[in-house]
Amino acid sequence: MSSFNIIDTLDNLQGEALEKLRVLTREEDLESWRVIFLGRKGKLTSILRAIKELPQDQKQLVGAKANQVKKTLEESLSNSQNDIKEIHAQGIYQEERVDVTRPGRPLNRGRLHPLTQIMREICGAFVSMGFQVVEGPEVEWDHYNFELLNIPKDHPARDMWNTLWIDYRDVNGEHPMLLRTHTSPMQARVMEDSNPPVRVIVPGKVYRYEATDATHEWHFHQVEGLAVDEGITFANMKGTLYEFARRVFGSERRVRFRCDYFPFVEPGVDMSIDCFTCDGNDANCRICRGTGWLEIMGAGMVHPKVLEGVGYDPSKYTGFAFGLGPERIAMLKYGIEDIRLFYSNDLRFLKQFNS
Ligand code: FA5
Repeated sequence: MSSFNIIDTLDNLQGEALEKLRVLTREEDLESWRVIFLGRKGKLTSILRAIKELPQDQKQLVGAKANQVKKTLEESLSNSQNDIKEIHAQGIYQEERVDVTRPGRPLNRGRLHPLTQIMREICGAFVSMGFQVVEGPEVEWDHYNFELLNIPKDHPARDMWNTLWIDYRDVNGEHPMLLRTHTSPMQARVMEDSNPPVRVIVPGKVYRYEATDATHEWHFHQVEGLAVDEGITFANMKGTLYEFARRVFGSERRVRFRCDYFPFVEPGVDMSIDCFTCDGNDANCRICRGTGWLEIMGAGMVHPKVLEGVGYDPSKYTGFAFGLGPERIAMLKYGIEDIRLFYSNDLRFLKQFNS
């Protein structure tokens, strides 16, 4: 090819390339255009190769022309790329434009979890009777969870609480730490830290190494109660718990106390309320299962050994303690049949409880 032919070809190529470029509006099309005209195997490169064949005196002239074409095409490509970016940015802006005249979208109103609601209700009932709310650690020492509660090592009563132990051994190779199995360790902690009179309730989370089913979770809540003073009697306990039951379950509720065993109380009881669904008249009642009674908590008079253990004089002071499960209370109150619903995060369930 002669130098004149090459210059013509370069002119034509430039014309063709610019004309095609003018109508392109997408980034991917620009890239294809670049490959065709400026790429390593593109049209301009193949012309540049032909320049090598020219005699020395023509190379300079044609070379200068080729460089000018390359520069023109590169600049035009760059301009087109910028144009497309700008158009694109404006497009996004259009989409995101806020129409301030449109009515607002309704906000999804949150609500308190049913367990939070029942815990507040339970605590509220006791606070209005003069109890103070305190909280304690969920990772607890064996010393507080068992020992100070009159449950020494190897005591069979430890089996009542299937324990999750913390993977840490003391110098004797024993596990001294656990996830508290009940809120009762706070009885000892509170008494160690204060002098009578004591009136506290302790809401909080507890853990047990248990299989789950409709009425059992491996982590659940408890509300502990403790009242210690001179002259506190079993009658004070009955009156307090009766009042609590009436406040949470209705003023017409009756209560029943039956003997039960907990190593840290003597005597120990379980407390039931009469069934508010069937009043004991429906043998197929799904709440009380025909018994007419619903068990709601364990309670009793604080064991003298527990008082001694924290430095209280049991000949001077007496007290009562109780522990209840808010999940079970909520299940009874709202007719919930499976405890696992509380922790399944199913909005269809949670939305039924207005706060
Ligand atoms: C106790 O844990 C005693 N600390 C209660 C107590 C305190 C008695 C003070 C006397 C004086 P118990 O293991 O029964 O007792 O548990 C108390 C309540 O926790 C039960 O009535 C029940 O409502 C709830 N509960 C027990 N296990 C589970 C479980 N796996 N899932 C859900 N709730 C449970």
